[in-house]
Amino acid sequence: MARKRILVVDDEPSIRRVLEKHLEERGYEVRSAQNGAEGREAGDAWCPDIVILDIRLPDTDGLELLQEFREKRPALLVIIITAFGDMHTTIAAMQRGAFDYLRKPIDVDELDEKVDLCARTIDERTGPGLVVTEAGADRDIYRVIGNSRKLQEIFKIIGSVSSSRTTVLIQGESGTGKELIARAIHFSSVSRQSPFIAINCGALVETLLASELFGHERGAFTGAVARKRGKFELAGDGTIFLDEIAEMTVGNQVKLLRVLQERRFERVGGNETLTTNARIIAATIPPLEECVARGRFREDLFYRLKVVTIYVPPLRERPEDIPVLVEHFVAQINRELQKNVRRIPDETMQMLVQREWRGNIRELENALRQALVNCKGDTLLRSFLPPGERPKSGDPPPVDFPPALTDLRTVEEDHIRRVLRHTKWNKLHASRILNISRPTLDRKIREYGLQPPDDPVA
Ligand SMILES: Nc1ncnc2c1ncn2[C@@H]1O[C@H](COP(=O)(O)OP(=O)(O)OP(=O)(O)O)[C@@H](O)[C@H]1O
Ligand SMILES: [Mg+2]
Repeated sequence: MARKRILVVDDEPSIRRVLEKHLEERGYEVRSAQNGAEGREAGDAWCPDIVILDIRLPDTDGLELLQEFREKRPALLVIIITAFGDMHTTIAAMQRGAFDYLRKPIDVDELDEKVDLCARTIDERTGPGLVVTEAGADRDIYRVIGNSRKLQEIFKIIGSVSSSRTTVLIQGESGTGKELIARAIHFSSVSRQSPFIAINCGALVETLLASELFGHERGAFTGAVARKRGKFELAGDGTIFLDEIAEMTVGNQVKLLRVLQERRFERVGGNETLTTNARIIAATIPPLEECVARGRFREDLFYRLKVVTIYVPPLRERPEDIPVLVEHFVAQINRELQKNVRRIPDETMQMLVQREWRGNIRELENALRQALVNCKGDTLLRSFLPPGERPKSGDPPPVDFPPALTDLRTVEEDHIRRVLRHTKWNKLHASRILNISRPTLDRKIREYGLQPPDDPVA
C-alpha cells in the first residue's frame, strides 16, 4: 500500500510539530498548514488522504473549510480537533461528514486509533467488497429479499397462491420473515386494495380475541357498551393474518374452524349469522403438528389451515441470502439514519455470513443498524459490527464467501457435513433440511465416508 498522506491544519505550532513527528514515525507522509488559507491550498495541490483539522482557525470558519474539503473530494477523510465545551461544533462537524473528532489536549493513543481507522477505511475501499447503491433502498417495502434456492421456492408459492384465496400456513423460527411473506402474498394478490389485518392470537385473552375477530353485541360481556364489528366483518376481500396461531384457545379454534368450513360466524353475544370473504393466513413458530400431537390444537383445524404450507428456513440454513440482505438493509438504514455507508469489504461480509443469527433476519437487521450507527466514513469495517456469538471451536471454516470454485461433489459433501453437524447428526432432521429421503442421506454418508465427530475413526 502506498504511504498515506495526512495534512494537519492547526494554528498552534506545538501541535503541528508533535503531530508531524509522531505521524511520520508511524509511516505516514505528513504536511501541515497554519491557517485555513494554507490548508485549502495544500488540500488542492497536494491531495491528502486524511486531514486533521482544527475547527477554530484564525482566518477561516473550520466548519466551512470542512464542508469545502468534503464537497471537493468526498473520499477525503477529515478528523477534526475540538476544544473542551465545543459540543455543538462537534455535532455540526459530524453532520457535515467529519470522519471523527479528537479533543484537545490530544491523546496519542486516541489519535493513533482514529488515524489507523481512516487508513483501514481507505485500504478497504479499494479492496474486494460490495458496493451499496442508493437503489437498494427504493425497493418496495414488502419485497422479500433473497436468492437462495429455498427462498426461490417460497417466491413460487407466493406467486401461485396470490391469485387465489387459499388459506396459507406459514411456519418458521422467530424473525425469519413470516409476516413479511404474509404481506407479500396479500399485496401481490388481486385484493391488495382491501385491508391486510394482522392479529396476534397470543396477545389477547379468549373473549377479547373472539371480539376482535368476530365482533360483539352490546352487553355481550362486561365493558361491551356498544356493538362492535370484528375483523372478519371489516376485512372485506382482504386478508386476516393470524399470528401465533398455536396460542389460540380451543373455544376460538372451534369458531375459526367454522369460518374456514362455512365462511360463517356470529358476533360474541349475538344470534345473527354473518359471512366473510376474507382470506386467512396463519403463522406459527412451534410446528402445529406437534401442538396437535400434544392435544393443544384441533386436528381438523390444522388440516383446514395447512392447505398450503410455507416453511421459512432459518437464516443459518440459507447463508447465500445474507449478502443481498445486507445490501438491502444497509441501503435502507443509510436512508433512515442519513448515513452514507457505501462499501462492505469482503472481510466484513465473511463475518456476517458466518454468524449464527439465532434471531434470524430481525437480528441481522438490528446488528446492521447498530453497525451503521458505529460506522465512521463510508466503509463498513469489521470492527464496527456489534459482537456476535463466537462460532463454536472445532467448527469447520465456515462458508466461503465468495465461494471457492470447486466441483459439485465437494460442495455437496461439505454441505451435507455442515447440515449433519448442525443437526448434531440427527439424520431425520438433516434429511428434512436437505430435502432428500433418509435412505438417500444414508447412501451419501457412506459414499463420502462421513463420520460423527466423537467416533474414533473420524
Ligand atoms: N427476506 C427478507 N427480505 C427483507 N426483509 C426481511 C426478510 N425476511 C425478514 N425481513 C425483515 O426482518 C424482520 C422480521 O421479519 P418478520 O417480522 O416478518 O418475522 P417473523 O417471522 O414474523 O418473526 P416473529 O415470529 O418473531 O414474529 C422484519 O423487519 C422484516 O421486514
Ligand atoms: Mg411475526
